[in-house]
Amino acid sequence: MSDLILQLDTIIKNFGAIEALRGISFAVKRGEVVALLGDNGAGKSTLVKIISGGLQPTSGRVMFDGAERHFASPAEAKAAGIETVYQDLSLCTNVDVVANFFMGREIVKRIFGIPILQERAMQAVVETAMANAGTRIPSMRTNVEHLSGGQRQAIELNRFVHWGGKLVLLDEPFAALGVEQTRRGLEMIKRIAGQGIGVVIITHIMAQAFQVADRIVVIRQGQVAGNIERAKTSPDEVVRMITGEGFAQPVPAAGMAGT
Ligand SMILES: Nc1ncnc2c1ncn2[C@@H]1O[C@H](COP(=O)(O)OP(=O)(O)OP(=O)(O)O)[C@@H](O)[C@H]1O
Ligand SMILES: [Mg+2]
Repeated sequence: MSDLILQLDTIIKNFGAIEALRGISFAVKRGEVVALLGDNGAGKSTLVKIISGGLQPTSGRVMFDGAERHFASPAEAKAAGIETVYQDLSLCTNVDVVANFFMGREIVKRIFGIPILQERAMQAVVETAMANAGTRIPSMRTNVEHLSGGQRQAIELNRFVHWGGKLVLLDEPFAALGVEQTRRGLEMIKRIAGQGIGVVIITHIMAQAFQVADRIVVIRQGQVAGNIERAKTSPDEVVRMITGEGFAQPVPAAGMAGT
């Protein structure tokens, strides 16, 4: 099994005459947190949508978990083990934590052919998963609408880990969260990566990138302008990569890192 969960090879995306992505190549290892940085309009969200099946690339290859993949929809990517977390999360707010966790995978027992939901068994599974992840939720029977943004993200991520997810993509996940919730969110990302899951997080906040990432990839005008281990760079250097200051041209796509 390769230690790479994701490899992007020369991804190009045009929207009509707009060249949003101009040959993006980089890789993400299992258990690695990659922070994706870049100015507004650099192409970060477009790239995440391509990885998660929301958009199709104009050209280029997406290798996921050892094989070239063409996800036709986010549902297909999700079924393969790619979870995408946006600010507006994908939980159902009018049902409780347990129902959200099991959505579509409920434990049922048939009695005389009639399916009966195994509520206690399901609640026990969710309680164990949350406890293992260090997430505190007042009650597993609380409707999700009464939980905070941070708690909702925790449920979503714990659910993903529990069902065997392999890669998490987060597009500015903490924009609407407070300081304490953001801190917990960053800790949760590290814990998820610690279980061998690859993480790509888009953030505009340099401190978050340096707090959570193993590697920083900078996108500028649709190209990779930097791909460097966090320990080998500094916020100042990353800012220069983002703005292009001190660089004549964006660095051409450097091939697949780590291969
Ligand atoms: N559906 C679309 N149709 C046309 N152009 C688009 C579309 N989606 C994105 N673009 C263009 O592609 C470029 C990259 O946009 P993208 O949303 O990926 O940027 P971003 O790096 O996520 O920026 P931000 O930090 O502001 O979220 C921009 O020029 C944008 O206008
Ligand atoms: Mg964006």
